[in-house]
Amino acid sequence: MNILVTGGAGFIGSNFVRHLLAAHPEHSIVNLDKLTYAGNLENLTDVEHLPGYTFIRGDICDRDLIGSLDFDAIVHFAAESHVDRSILDSSPFLQTNVIGTATLLEAARERCCRMLHVSTDEVYGSLPQGLFTEASLISPNSPYAASKASSDLLVRAYHETYGMDLLITRCSNNYGPYQFPEKLIPLVISHALQGKTIPVYGDGQNVRDWIHVADHNRAVDLVFHHAKAGDVYNIGARNEQKNIDIIKTLLAVIAKKTGRDREGLFRLITFVKDRPGHDRRYAIDPAKIETDLSWKPEIPFDQGLSDTVAWYLENRSWWERVISGAYLEYYRLQYGERFGG
Ligand code: NAD
Ligand code: DAU
Repeated sequence: MNILVTGGAGFIGSNFVRHLLAAHPEHSIVNLDKLTYAGNLENLTDVEHLPGYTFIRGDICDRDLIGSLDFDAIVHFAAESHVDRSILDSSPFLQTNVIGTATLLEAARERCCRMLHVSTDEVYGSLPQGLFTEASLISPNSPYAASKASSDLLVRAYHETYGMDLLITRCSNNYGPYQFPEKLIPLVISHALQGKTIPVYGDGQNVRDWIHVADHNRAVDLVFHHAKAGDVYNIGARNEQKNIDIIKTLLAVIAKKTGRDREGLFRLITFVKDRPGHDRRYAIDPAKIETDLSWKPEIPFDQGLSDTVAWYLENRSWWERVISGAYLEYYRLQYGERFGG
């Protein structure tokens, strides 16, 4: 199969490309990515030369471009993904997440091909108690979540209307290598290593349900290969953590690995004004994917966090180049122009 992976230069997408090339050498991959600020070709330097891998710089809203590509199935990661940015300006979120997904659905309709839409637990909104199941109400609270919910509803509607072979996965918070350092875990690690303050929104008691990106991608792989048309799967590792606890755990791991003073690192913690519309709690019930597809997360949280800290320590130049903007130079060398933004 020739698989179109969208957003394969981002955090989860680049980990998925690497996973798929290793786990399914029988497939070839076309990675279509616009290379926004979040897309980084340096995430893929170890696999970009492999046969069966092609990179195309382009926009998922570009119908003609997508029509010109050769593929038999789509795994769709591309999105504007950061909640804080959606609060400042929702327009790129509506364009990419809604119009872009609709454009891909039309391309999939033309070719009658399978498309897996990678969604998020944020479409369900905030949960006072219990767990999100696939039947939970869609109730998004941020412009980002609303744009993802809109794209989910389009996928559902295309399946119902045209009988298309479409799938949706809704995963909880991912962490692991190559995550852009605007998201909580890499932000805490990179700030701690630079001696910068660590902003905690509100009272720090908000709960997220964390999963290692490799466990998420194994689940996406299983759904893509084995689920039936129209299926929706929640993906989560039954791992609820309060933000403040995760921050303290990370700082303790950093202190242990680097020999820095733990109390000094803890003094970097700074409580700041809350994120508007900040969801209090997410928690996923992954029973359906566990039962139907025998999926289980394999990476215990303590191990995953420790490995992630180790990765950011060993790959300091990767995140320093992201923070300084130097990673955009890689594109200039490849394409003879400067872009990003
Ligand atoms: P990311 O921001 O790291 O990467 C997004 C990628 O999409 C980037 O490479 C970017 O260049 C590309 N992109 C953006 N707009 C594009 C466009 N118009 N055309 C082509 N490419 C475009 O995001 P991520 O954290 O890797 O998330 C990937 C997907 O997984 C998203 O759909 C997100 O909603 C979903 N998701 C993320 C998480 C999480 O915790 N990060 C959890 C559940 C679901
Ligand atoms: O649940 C899945 C979602 O997880 C994905 O759909 C999103 O793409 C992804 O960005 C993530 O959204 P969150 O808003 O949960 O992630 P973020 O890393 O931005 O924040 C995690 C929690 O930490 C949240 O409660 C806000 C808080 N936070 C975040 C940052 C960046 C802070 O307290 N301080 C910070 O500086």
